[in-house]
Amino acid sequence: MHKDLKEILITEEEIKEAAKRLAAQIDRDYEGSEILFVGLLKGSVQIMADLLKNVQTKCKVDFMCVSSYGSGTTSTGRVNIIKDLSEPIDGMNVVIVEDIIDSGNTLSFIEKYFAAKNAKSVRICTLLNKPSRREVEINVDYVGFDVPDEFVVGYGLDYREYYRNLPYIGVLKPEIYS
Ligand code: IMP
Ligand code: MG
Repeated sequence: MHKDLKEILITEEEIKEAAKRLAAQIDRDYEGSEILFVGLLKGSVQIMADLLKNVQTKCKVDFMCVSSYGSGTTSTGRVNIIKDLSEPIDGMNVVIVEDIIDSGNTLSFIEKYFAAKNAKSVRICTLLNKPSRREVEINVDYVGFDVPDEFVVGYGLDYREYYRNLPYIGVLKPEIYS
């Protein structure tokens, strides 16, 4: 385990199993149609790779980069587009792929943004969900794991851009960010 972690919350094996389960759910729901996966950078990269390896449905992949966070551990509620979609999404069945849903501010913004761009449907797939921290109501269609209200890193999730490379989800020691 990385020395900056208090504990490992979710192991690599558990994540790989969850990715298979989510991919199977998605395949069932979109059978016979086409999906556009939109990953939110940078946190979604690891779970996106796992989903893509397991999904059988015809699909395209795009990425967006938005920020609602400063460099700390709490949401600012403001969302800026840093990198936009690379192709139009009108008429597409979009599945947003996210690392973690916390306040819900980011996803709430993105959902409205995609609806305004005339996506045919928009669903959300997230590796982690922190329901206790929700500030805006969000309908999350595919959830890997519900996690407690602790700051977690690894498997794409960062603290000040570090720890994204860890192959598991761990709880950061509070002394690292306090
Ligand atoms: P929301 O807009 O508050 O739902 O924030 C979502 C974004 O906040 C995620 O995409 C993460 O980048 C970041 N975030 C929220 N909680 C954590 C955490 O525990 N660890 C790392 N990043 C987090
Ligand atoms: Mg993120």
